[in-house]
Amino acid sequence: MVESFSPKNIIVTGGCGFIGSNFVHYVVNNHPETHVTVLDKLTYAGNPENIAGLPSDRVELVVGDICDAGLLDRIVPGHDAIVHYAAESHNDNSIADPEPFLKTNVEGTYRLLEACRKYDVRYHHISTDEVYGDLALDDPARFTESTPYHPSSPYSSTKAASDLLVRAWTRTYGLRTTISNCSNNYGPFQHVEKFIPRQITNILTGVRPKLYGEGLNVRDWIHTEDHSSAVWTILTRGRIGETYLIGADGERNNITVLRMILEMMGKDSDDFDHVRDRPGHDRRYAIDATKLRTELGWTPAHTDFADGLKATIDWYAEHRQWWEKTKERTEARYKAQGQ
Ligand code: NAD
Ligand code: TYD
Repeated sequence: MVESFSPKNIIVTGGCGFIGSNFVHYVVNNHPETHVTVLDKLTYAGNPENIAGLPSDRVELVVGDICDAGLLDRIVPGHDAIVHYAAESHNDNSIADPEPFLKTNVEGTYRLLEACRKYDVRYHHISTDEVYGDLALDDPARFTESTPYHPSSPYSSTKAASDLLVRAWTRTYGLRTTISNCSNNYGPFQHVEKFIPRQITNILTGVRPKLYGEGLNVRDWIHTEDHSSAVWTILTRGRIGETYLIGADGERNNITVLRMILEMMGKDSDDFDHVRDRPGHDRRYAIDATKLRTELGWTPAHTDFADGLKATIDWYAEHRQWWEKTKERTEARYKAQGQ
Protein backbone atom coordinates (compact mmCIF):
# COMPACT_ATOMS: atom_id res chain seq x y z
CA MET A 1 0.00 0.00 0.00
CA VAL A 2 1.23 3.52 -0.82
CA GLU A 3 2.10 5.54 2.33
CA SER A 4 0.93 9.15 2.71
CA PHE A 5 3.06 11.71 4.50
CA SER A 6 2.54 15.48 4.85
CA PRO A 7 5.77 17.09 6.04
CA LYS A 8 5.44 20.54 7.60
CA ASN A 9 9.14 21.22 8.27
CA ILE A 10 11.79 19.81 6.00
CA ILE A 11 15.55 20.20 5.72
CA VAL A 12 16.87 20.39 2.17
CA THR A 13 20.61 19.82 2.09
CA GLY A 14 22.43 21.38 -0.86
CA GLY A 15 19.49 23.76 -1.38
CA CYS A 16 21.80 26.45 -2.80
CA GLY A 17 23.03 24.16 -5.60
CA PHE A 18 21.40 23.54 -8.97
CA ILE A 19 18.82 20.82 -8.35
CA GLY A 20 18.37 21.51 -4.63
CA SER A 21 17.51 25.18 -5.21
CA ASN A 22 15.04 24.26 -7.95
CA PHE A 23 13.40 21.88 -5.45
CA VAL A 24 13.18 24.68 -2.85
CA HIS A 25 11.42 26.89 -5.44
CA TYR A 26 9.12 23.99 -6.30
CA VAL A 27 8.11 23.47 -2.66
CA VAL A 28 7.57 27.19 -2.04
CA ASN A 29 5.44 27.50 -5.19
CA ASN A 30 3.40 24.32 -4.80
CA HIS A 31 3.22 23.36 -1.12
CA PRO A 32 2.40 26.42 1.01
CA GLU A 33 2.01 24.29 4.14
CA THR A 34 5.70 23.28 4.16
CA HIS A 35 8.60 25.25 5.64
CA VAL A 36 12.09 24.60 4.27
CA THR A 37 15.38 24.82 6.14
CA VAL A 38 18.21 24.82 3.62
CA LEU A 39 21.49 23.38 4.94
CA ASP A 40 24.32 24.25 2.58
CA LYS A 41 28.08 24.67 2.96
CA LEU A 42 28.22 27.10 0.02
CA THR A 43 31.06 25.36 -1.80
CA TYR A 44 32.10 26.65 -5.24
CA ALA A 45 28.80 25.07 -6.48
CA GLY A 46 26.50 26.67 -3.91
CA ASN A 47 25.08 30.14 -4.45
CA PRO A 48 22.67 31.78 -1.97
CA GLU A 49 21.33 33.91 -4.85
CA ASN A 50 19.62 30.75 -6.12
CA ILE A 51 17.07 31.01 -3.30
CA ALA A 52 17.24 34.77 -2.71
CA GLY A 53 13.88 36.51 -2.83
CA LEU A 54 11.91 33.54 -1.51
CA PRO A 55 9.73 34.52 1.49
CA SER A 56 11.69 34.45 4.76
CA ASP A 57 8.77 32.84 6.60
CA ARG A 58 8.95 29.87 4.18
CA VAL A 59 12.69 29.35 3.73
CA GLU A 60 15.61 29.66 6.15
CA LEU A 61 19.25 29.23 5.10
CA VAL A 62 21.69 27.60 7.54
CA VAL A 63 25.24 27.77 6.21
CA GLY A 64 27.10 24.69 7.37
CA ASP A 65 28.56 21.28 6.56
CA ILE A 66 26.50 18.07 6.53
CA CYS A 67 29.57 16.37 8.07
CA ASP A 68 29.20 18.53 11.22
CA ALA A 69 27.40 16.24 13.72
CA GLY A 70 27.13 19.03 16.33
CA LEU A 71 25.36 21.29 13.85
CA LEU A 72 22.97 18.47 12.90
CA ASP A 73 22.17 17.98 16.62
CA ARG A 74 21.16 21.63 16.75
CA ILE A 75 19.05 21.85 13.61
CA VAL A 76 17.53 18.41 12.90
CA PRO A 77 15.16 18.16 15.93
CA GLY A 78 11.75 19.59 15.06
CA HIS A 79 11.96 18.64 11.38
CA ASP A 80 9.76 15.92 9.84
CA ALA A 81 12.08 15.04 6.96
CA ILE A 82 15.48 15.55 5.37
CA VAL A 83 15.73 15.64 1.58
CA HIS A 84 19.41 15.12 0.90
CA TYR A 85 20.74 16.80 -2.26
CA ALA A 86 24.13 18.07 -1.01
CA ALA A 87 27.03 16.44 -2.81
CA GLU A 88 30.17 16.96 -4.74
CA SER A 89 28.50 16.40 -8.08
CA HIS A 90 30.89 16.76 -11.01
CA ASN A 91 32.62 13.76 -12.59
CA ASP A 92 35.55 15.73 -14.02
CA ASN A 93 36.33 17.22 -10.59
CA SER A 94 36.19 13.77 -9.00
CA ILE A 95 38.78 12.51 -11.47
CA ALA A 96 41.10 15.44 -10.68
CA ASP A 97 40.63 15.17 -6.86
CA PRO A 98 38.42 12.43 -5.37
CA GLU A 99 38.90 13.33 -1.69
CA PRO A 100 36.06 15.88 -1.21
CA PHE A 101 33.73 13.33 -2.85
CA LEU A 102 34.57 10.73 -0.19
CA LYS A 103 34.08 13.27 2.56
CA THR A 104 30.80 14.89 1.49
CA ASN A 105 29.10 12.08 -0.40
CA VAL A 106 29.96 9.20 1.94
CA GLU A 107 30.70 10.69 5.37
CA GLY A 108 28.10 13.43 4.91
CA THR A 109 25.38 10.87 4.14
CA TYR A 110 26.47 8.80 7.17
CA ARG A 111 26.13 11.86 9.44
CA LEU A 112 22.66 12.65 8.14
CA LEU A 113 21.51 9.04 8.56
CA GLU A 114 22.77 9.05 12.13
CA ALA A 115 20.93 12.30 12.84
CA CYS A 116 17.72 10.85 11.37
CA ARG A 117 18.15 7.76 13.53
CA LYS A 118 18.71 9.81 16.67
CA TYR A 119 15.73 12.14 16.11
CA ASP A 120 13.41 9.73 14.22
CA VAL A 121 13.24 11.81 11.06
CA ARG A 122 12.05 10.63 7.61
CA TYR A 123 14.88 10.67 5.05
CA HIS A 124 14.83 10.93 1.26
CA HIS A 125 18.10 10.31 -0.55
CA ILE A 126 18.84 11.96 -3.89
CA SER A 127 21.01 9.79 -6.06
CA THR A 128 21.94 9.36 -9.68
CA ASP A 129 21.56 6.80 -12.47
CA GLU A 130 25.36 6.83 -12.70
CA VAL A 131 25.54 4.26 -9.86
CA TYR A 132 24.54 1.66 -12.48
CA GLY A 133 27.57 2.34 -14.68
CA ASP A 134 26.88 2.58 -18.40
CA LEU A 135 25.01 0.79 -21.16
CA ALA A 136 26.36 0.00 -24.62
CA LEU A 137 25.17 2.40 -27.34
CA ASP A 138 23.38 -0.42 -29.17
CA ASP A 139 21.88 -2.06 -26.06
CA PRO A 140 18.06 -1.88 -26.13
CA ALA A 141 18.00 -2.14 -22.30
CA ARG A 142 17.46 0.71 -19.86
CA PHE A 143 18.27 0.93 -16.14
CA THR A 144 15.61 -0.33 -13.71
CA GLU A 145 15.52 -0.52 -9.91
CA SER A 146 17.00 -4.04 -10.10
CA THR A 147 20.01 -3.21 -12.32
CA PRO A 148 23.23 -4.17 -10.45
CA TYR A 149 25.45 -1.33 -9.23
CA HIS A 150 28.54 -0.84 -11.39
CA PRO A 151 29.85 2.73 -10.93
CA SER A 152 32.71 3.99 -13.10
CA SER A 153 34.06 7.22 -11.59
CA PRO A 154 35.05 8.46 -8.13
CA TYR A 155 31.85 10.55 -8.24
CA SER A 156 29.50 7.69 -9.10
CA SER A 157 31.23 5.25 -6.74
CA THR A 158 30.78 7.61 -3.79
CA LYS A 159 27.12 8.11 -4.72
CA ALA A 160 26.74 4.30 -4.91
CA ALA A 161 28.38 3.98 -1.48
CA SER A 162 25.95 6.51 -0.04
CA ASP A 163 22.95 4.62 -1.49
CA LEU A 164 24.19 1.42 0.17
CA LEU A 165 24.51 3.19 3.53
CA VAL A 166 20.87 4.27 3.23
CA ARG A 167 19.76 0.70 2.52
CA ALA A 168 21.76 -0.65 5.47
CA TRP A 169 20.40 1.98 7.88
CA THR A 170 16.88 1.17 6.72
CA ARG A 171 17.22 -2.56 7.23
CA THR A 172 19.33 -2.50 10.41
CA TYR A 173 17.85 0.45 12.27
CA GLY A 174 14.41 0.66 10.67
CA LEU A 175 14.98 4.20 9.36
CA ARG A 176 12.09 5.58 7.26
CA THR A 177 13.89 6.16 3.95
CA THR A 178 13.38 6.29 0.22
CA ILE A 179 15.99 6.65 -2.54
CA SER A 180 15.63 8.15 -6.01
CA ASN A 181 18.13 7.76 -8.84
CA CYS A 182 17.61 10.38 -11.50
CA SER A 183 19.10 10.93 -14.94
CA ASN A 184 20.89 14.09 -16.20
CA ASN A 185 19.08 17.31 -15.27
CA TYR A 186 18.96 20.57 -17.21
CA GLY A 187 17.40 23.95 -16.49
CA PRO A 188 18.14 27.22 -14.67
CA PHE A 189 20.82 27.62 -11.94
CA GLN A 190 23.07 24.81 -13.23
CA HIS A 191 26.78 25.49 -12.70
CA VAL A 192 28.69 26.43 -15.86
CA GLU A 193 31.04 23.47 -15.41
CA LYS A 194 28.26 21.11 -16.61
CA PHE A 195 27.73 20.21 -20.28
CA ILE A 196 24.67 22.26 -21.32
CA PRO A 197 25.43 25.51 -19.43
CA ARG A 198 29.09 25.29 -20.38
CA GLN A 199 28.28 25.25 -24.08
CA ILE A 200 25.60 27.97 -23.83
CA THR A 201 27.90 30.31 -21.89
CA ASN A 202 30.82 29.54 -24.20
CA ILE A 203 28.74 30.76 -27.13
CA LEU A 204 27.55 33.80 -25.14
CA THR A 205 31.19 34.73 -24.43
CA GLY A 206 32.44 34.14 -27.97
CA VAL A 207 34.22 30.84 -27.22
CA ARG A 208 33.72 27.70 -29.30
CA PRO A 209 31.85 24.90 -27.47
CA LYS A 210 33.93 21.91 -26.34
CA LEU A 211 32.84 18.37 -27.10
CA TYR A 212 34.52 15.38 -25.43
CA GLY A 213 35.65 12.77 -27.95
CA GLU A 214 33.23 12.16 -30.82
CA GLY A 215 30.18 13.22 -28.79
CA LEU A 216 28.39 9.90 -29.25
CA ASN A 217 27.83 9.37 -25.52
CA VAL A 218 24.14 9.34 -24.66
CA ARG A 219 22.52 11.09 -21.70
CA ASP A 220 18.84 10.84 -20.70
CA TRP A 221 17.84 14.48 -20.15
CA ILE A 222 15.12 15.55 -17.71
CA HIS A 223 14.05 19.08 -16.82
CA THR A 224 14.94 19.83 -13.21
CA GLU A 225 11.31 20.83 -12.40
CA ASP A 226 10.23 17.32 -13.33
CA HIS A 227 12.90 15.95 -11.00
CA SER A 228 11.44 18.14 -8.23
CA SER A 229 7.86 16.95 -8.76
CA ALA A 230 9.06 13.34 -8.77
CA VAL A 231 10.99 13.80 -5.51
CA TRP A 232 7.97 15.41 -3.83
CA THR A 233 5.80 12.51 -5.01
CA ILE A 234 8.23 9.95 -3.58
CA LEU A 235 8.74 11.87 -0.33
CA THR A 236 5.01 12.09 0.35
CA ARG A 237 3.65 8.90 -1.23
CA GLY A 238 6.61 6.59 -1.83
CA ARG A 239 6.82 3.25 -0.06
CA ILE A 240 9.32 3.24 2.80
CA GLY A 241 12.50 1.34 2.02
CA GLU A 242 11.96 1.58 -1.75
CA THR A 243 14.08 2.94 -4.58
CA TYR A 244 12.49 4.80 -7.51
CA LEU A 245 14.22 5.67 -10.78
CA ILE A 246 13.37 9.11 -12.20
CA GLY A 247 13.60 9.79 -15.92
CA ALA A 248 11.56 11.36 -18.71
CA ASP A 249 12.52 9.37 -21.85
CA GLY A 250 15.00 12.05 -22.95
CA GLU A 251 17.85 10.06 -24.50
CA ARG A 252 20.08 12.08 -26.86
CA ASN A 253 23.75 11.92 -27.71
CA ASN A 254 26.00 14.85 -26.85
CA ILE A 255 26.70 15.96 -30.40
CA THR A 256 22.94 16.18 -31.10
CA VAL A 257 22.38 18.35 -28.02
CA LEU A 258 25.35 20.54 -28.89
CA ARG A 259 24.13 21.05 -32.46
CA MET A 260 20.65 21.96 -31.16
CA ILE A 261 22.23 24.60 -28.89
CA LEU A 262 24.37 25.99 -31.73
CA GLU A 263 21.42 26.22 -34.11
CA MET A 264 19.11 27.78 -31.49
CA MET A 265 21.79 30.39 -30.81
CA GLY A 266 22.20 31.24 -34.49
CA LYS A 267 25.56 29.51 -35.03
CA ASP A 268 26.77 27.02 -37.59
CA SER A 269 26.17 23.49 -36.27
CA ASP A 270 29.85 22.59 -36.87
CA ASP A 271 31.17 25.58 -34.95
CA PHE A 272 32.71 23.65 -32.01
CA ASP A 273 35.99 21.97 -30.94
CA HIS A 274 36.58 18.31 -30.17
CA VAL A 275 38.64 18.13 -26.96
CA ARG A 276 40.31 15.42 -24.88
CA ASP A 277 37.80 12.79 -23.77
CA ARG A 278 37.01 12.14 -20.11
CA PRO A 279 38.89 9.07 -18.75
CA GLY A 280 36.45 6.20 -18.14
CA HIS A 281 33.69 8.19 -19.91
CA ASP A 282 30.34 6.38 -19.51
CA ARG A 283 28.81 5.65 -22.90
CA ARG A 284 25.08 5.71 -22.26
CA TYR A 285 22.60 6.24 -19.45
CA ALA A 286 18.90 5.42 -19.90
CA ILE A 287 16.13 5.24 -17.33
CA ASP A 288 13.05 3.07 -17.26
CA ALA A 289 10.76 4.99 -14.87
CA THR A 290 7.84 2.54 -15.08
CA LYS A 291 7.74 1.93 -11.32
CA LEU A 292 7.43 5.63 -10.48
CA ARG A 293 4.86 6.20 -13.23
CA THR A 294 2.63 3.21 -12.51
CA GLU A 295 2.93 2.91 -8.72
CA LEU A 296 2.81 6.63 -7.84
CA GLY A 297 1.19 8.03 -11.00
CA TRP A 298 3.98 10.56 -11.66
CA THR A 299 4.38 12.06 -15.14
CA PRO A 300 6.82 14.73 -16.36
CA ALA A 301 5.44 18.10 -17.49
CA HIS A 302 8.40 19.12 -19.71
CA THR A 303 8.08 16.60 -22.50
CA ASP A 304 9.42 18.81 -25.31
CA PHE A 305 13.21 18.87 -24.94
CA ALA A 306 13.66 21.58 -27.60
CA ASP A 307 11.30 23.91 -25.69
CA GLY A 308 13.08 23.28 -22.39
CA LEU A 309 16.48 23.79 -23.97
CA LYS A 310 15.40 27.06 -25.59
CA ALA A 311 14.07 28.34 -22.23
CA THR A 312 17.37 27.33 -20.59
CA ILE A 313 19.38 29.21 -23.24
CA ASP A 314 17.18 32.28 -22.63
CA TRP A 315 17.72 32.00 -18.87
CA TYR A 316 21.54 32.04 -19.24
CA ALA A 317 21.36 34.92 -21.72
CA GLU A 318 19.25 36.90 -19.23
CA HIS A 319 21.33 36.06 -16.13
CA ARG A 320 24.90 36.84 -17.19
CA GLN A 321 25.72 38.39 -13.84
CA TRP A 322 24.76 35.07 -12.15
CA TRP A 323 27.43 33.07 -14.04
CA GLU A 324 30.05 35.52 -15.35
CA LYS A 325 32.28 35.45 -12.25
CA THR A 326 32.53 31.64 -12.10
CA LYS A 327 32.88 31.21 -15.85
CA GLU A 328 36.47 32.41 -16.06
CA ARG A 329 37.60 30.21 -13.15
CA THR A 330 35.81 27.18 -14.57
CA GLU A 331 37.33 27.58 -18.04
CA ALA A 332 40.83 28.05 -16.56
CA ARG A 333 40.42 24.69 -14.79
CA TYR A 334 39.21 22.97 -17.96
CA LYS A 335 42.08 24.48 -19.95
CA ALA A 336 44.62 23.06 -17.48
CA GLN A 337 42.98 19.63 -17.99
CA GLY A 338 43.21 19.91 -21.79
CA GLN A 339 39.42 20.18 -22.05
P1 NAD B 1 25.54 21.04 -7.31
O1 NAD B 1 26.99 20.74 -7.33
O2 NAD B 1 24.97 22.07 -8.23
O3 NAD B 1 25.11 21.47 -5.82
C1 NAD B 1 25.59 20.82 -4.68
C2 NAD B 1 25.22 21.67 -3.47
O4 NAD B 1 25.65 20.97 -2.28
C3 NAD B 1 25.92 23.04 -3.43
O5 NAD B 1 25.00 24.04 -3.05
C4 NAD B 1 27.01 22.86 -2.39
O6 NAD B 1 27.37 24.07 -1.74
C5 NAD B 1 26.35 21.87 -1.44
N1 NAD B 1 27.35 21.10 -0.65
C6 NAD B 1 28.42 20.43 -1.13
N2 NAD B 1 29.09 19.85 -0.12
C7 NAD B 1 28.40 20.14 1.02
C8 NAD B 1 28.58 19.80 2.39
N3 NAD B 1 29.61 19.05 2.80
N4 NAD B 1 27.68 20.25 3.29
C9 NAD B 1 26.62 21.03 2.89
N5 NAD B 1 26.42 21.38 1.62
C10 NAD B 1 27.28 20.94 0.68
O7 NAD B 1 24.82 19.63 -7.51
P2 NAD B 1 23.49 19.26 -8.32
O8 NAD B 1 23.83 19.05 -9.74
O9 NAD B 1 22.42 20.21 -7.94
O10 NAD B 1 23.18 17.83 -7.69
C11 NAD B 1 22.41 17.72 -6.50
C12 NAD B 1 22.19 16.25 -6.18
O11 NAD B 1 21.53 15.60 -7.26
C13 NAD B 1 23.50 15.47 -5.95
O12 NAD B 1 23.29 14.58 -4.88
C14 NAD B 1 23.71 14.73 -7.26
O13 NAD B 1 24.43 13.54 -7.06
C15 NAD B 1 22.27 14.45 -7.66
N6 NAD B 1 22.03 14.28 -9.11
C16 NAD B 1 22.48 15.23 -9.99
C17 NAD B 1 22.18 15.07 -11.35
C18 NAD B 1 22.59 16.14 -12.36
O14 NAD B 1 22.27 16.02 -13.54
N7 NAD B 1 23.27 17.21 -11.95
C19 NAD B 1 21.45 13.98 -11.79
C20 NAD B 1 21.02 13.03 -10.84
C21 NAD B 1 21.30 13.20 -9.51
P1 TYD C 1 28.15 16.42 -17.49
O1 TYD C 1 27.27 17.61 -17.59
O2 TYD C 1 29.47 16.57 -16.83
O3 TYD C 1 27.27 15.30 -16.76
P2 TYD C 1 27.58 13.70 -16.51
O4 TYD C 1 29.03 13.48 -16.54
O5 TYD C 1 27.03 13.56 -15.12
O6 TYD C 1 26.80 12.98 -17.52
O7 TYD C 1 28.41 15.84 -18.93
C1 TYD C 1 27.34 15.40 -19.76
C2 TYD C 1 27.96 14.77 -21.00
O8 TYD C 1 28.62 15.79 -21.76
C3 TYD C 1 29.03 13.74 -20.69
O9 TYD C 1 28.93 12.69 -21.65
C4 TYD C 1 30.34 14.49 -20.86
C5 TYD C 1 30.01 15.49 -21.96
N1 TYD C 1 30.72 16.79 -21.89
C6 TYD C 1 31.29 17.32 -23.06
O10 TYD C 1 31.26 16.72 -24.15
N2 TYD C 1 31.88 18.54 -23.00
C7 TYD C 1 31.95 19.26 -21.84
O11 TYD C 1 32.50 20.39 -21.84
C8 TYD C 1 31.37 18.71 -20.64
C9 TYD C 1 31.44 19.44 -19.34
C10 TYD C 1 30.75 17.46 -20.72
